[in-house]
Amino acid sequence: MERLSGSNLIIVSNREPYEHRRLKDRLVCRRTDGGLTSALDPALRRLGGTWVAWGSGEADRGAVGPGAVVEVPPESHSHTYRLRRVWLSRDEVKGGYVGYASEVLWPLCHVTLDRVAYLKAFWNGYRALNHQFADAVLEELRERPGPVWVHDFQLALLPGLLKQTAPDTRVALFWHIPWPGPDVFRILPERRELLESLLAADCLTFQTAGYVREFAECAHQFLGAEVGRAPDGVQYRGHMTKLTAQAISVDFRSISDMAKTAEVESLMTLARRRLGLGQGIRMGLGVDRLDYTKGLLKRLWALDTFFTRYPHYRGKFTFVQIAVPTRSEVEAYRRYREVIRETASEINARHCRGGWHPIEYLEGRIGFSTLVAYYRMADLALVSSVYDGMNLVAKEYASSQVDEQGVLLVSQMAGAADELTDALIINPYDPEGLADALKQALEMPEEERQRRMSAMRRHLQMYDIHAWVDRCLHDAGVWSDQR
Ligand code: G6P
Repeated sequence: MERLSGSNLIIVSNREPYEHRRLKDRLVCRRTDGGLTSALDPALRRLGGTWVAWGSGEADRGAVGPGAVVEVPPESHSHTYRLRRVWLSRDEVKGGYVGYASEVLWPLCHVTLDRVAYLKAFWNGYRALNHQFADAVLEELRERPGPVWVHDFQLALLPGLLKQTAPDTRVALFWHIPWPGPDVFRILPERRELLESLLAADCLTFQTAGYVREFAECAHQFLGAEVGRAPDGVQYRGHMTKLTAQAISVDFRSISDMAKTAEVESLMTLARRRLGLGQGIRMGLGVDRLDYTKGLLKRLWALDTFFTRYPHYRGKFTFVQIAVPTRSEVEAYRRYREVIRETASEINARHCRGGWHPIEYLEGRIGFSTLVAYYRMADLALVSSVYDGMNLVAKEYASSQVDEQGVLLVSQMAGAADELTDALIINPYDPEGLADALKQALEMPEEERQRRMSAMRRHLQMYDIHAWVDRCLHDAGVWSDQR
């Protein structure tokens, strides 16, 4: 078994953890959005190593040293790691990332099939993008040989490309999003190429055992691969790929500690004032990238139903929706944003009274300590994804709930529902059921709220992001001795 020294691990993802921008004549560095980077950044800060990712920031080129490398995070003197940036051409971004990854694989894996906008040309861009990444990783491997841990659907061709040139390198891949069944996966004209590349990896890890089963079924149906019993492995052309399920998590301790700080407490007071939440007004919270898979529209309909069915909550409960714009290059996302804005203002117009609105819609990015303040003060948090690999907002909310007063509602279509069984599990397709679950959350006795939240917090403390990394690397045959 290969021993991880703590500095030779190479993580690869399309999205980089930190982007550089120019503000007047200053270079500023900010962390990027999305579950992948929020989970992996604390992990790599602990382990050290190299993260290879697309240099997507407008000022990224000006921030790197030799070999396109920059040390991150910028404010830290210890616990840093190397970020090696990959430069993608316009065609690789348009065809590979925007086209094949975001407009084909993303909706396909989330089974939102009407949104799949396939074009053959996208495939060429996707291959080119994966080749760029492979070149960068192989260059890194020549300098610092070590295990490679690939992340997500943008880089499905990477295991195959790496193994062609460096067959002895240990390659693992974590698939962050759902894996669909064969009846859906067959839509993809390049299904065989994708599966063959993935099966070049030594270990493939998914969020849930259900996705492992669907993957194994696809490998069997489309490649005739031999699938192990559990299924815990796939044998294809003489190579064995281990299959495992590990639910990704969050940095429980650091979020929980942050939630107790004086800074967060004063941000809570500030937020209540800014939102006009007087004494006695309860608060619900949604935090999402503006992505159609998050079920934001269905959530708004459910809130409309809630205030219609239970009008005595008007003026007594406000739902705060933090919506982070994302993938604005894709038309479906731009349109979705418009629909969400319009629907929120229609519902506000329908139910408002005095200066009170049912929905406070806040579009944009907010700093992490402010986010933790919202999480801690929210009486309930609602995750209503129509399909979601895991959903880390659910886990961040519970990690921030140091007073153990809040109620978490999680969609049955999110991986997090398998694990956080003390949440109220909701069906995002049923607005009346969801409206009733909101009422149940608001009226839940204190003792029950505390019991449920405390159980979820205990679970997350044990199954935090560091435990997840250790388990994934252990599955991959990379021994981690860092804990
Ligand atoms: C999800 C995906 C990630 C992706 C993130 C943000 O979490 O699983 O792979 O990086 O969304 O999306 P973006 O397209 O901006 O990278």
